[in-house]
Amino acid sequence: KKVAIFASGNGSNYEKIMENIQADYLTDIEVVGLYTDKREAFAIERARRFRTPIQIFELAQYDNKIAYEKAILEQLQKDNVEWIILAGYMKLVGETLLNVYEGKILNIHPSLLPSFPGKNAVGQALQYGVKVTGATVHYVDMGMDTGKIIDQMSCPIYEDDTEATLQLRVQNLEYELYPRVIKKLIQ
Ligand code: GRF
Repeated sequence: KKVAIFASGNGSNYEKIMENIQADYLTDIEVVGLYTDKREAFAIERARRFRTPIQIFELAQYDNKIAYEKAILEQLQKDNVEWIILAGYMKLVGETLLNVYEGKILNIHPSLLPSFPGKNAVGQALQYGVKVTGATVHYVDMGMDTGKIIDQMSCPIYEDDTEATLQLRVQNLEYELYPRVIKKLIQ
């Protein structure tokens, strides 16, 4: 199956997926592109190391979001992409991509949705004082982290947690959860 991974930043989830391919936990999954909207994304460095083709589309280079997504769509179709895996892609997916790929776009979010959608979910959970949080993989729809939930993993929050310690715990869940969902759903 040909998949594209979308990332705007660090790209550690991208890297974990690649490691799972190399380790043969994931088979028949071909990552045909690392798509990014940020020229400075560290994910690009990681993609170079794994020799994943890098596709950069910056919103500012286009008249509007529709034109931006049309350009992305053209490349996705050139690459024969069947599934889009969002991994720290910091934009809402618009109708241009959803019209073609609805039901084939996954996202991972660092909370137990529907709690704490949007930015800084780990900080929100800590602030709120919940005692359990986790990670969620869901289908992508028009909303912000609102699509149907596919799978979740949970972890405790301890009294002495900081944003950094909690983030580490949640990310480690993500590294296990995303490959597992990809294996079940796409492979
Ligand atoms: C992850 O925590 C993911 O849940 C969220 O953005 C973060 C991306 O991290 N959507 P990375 O870029 O994969 O390191």
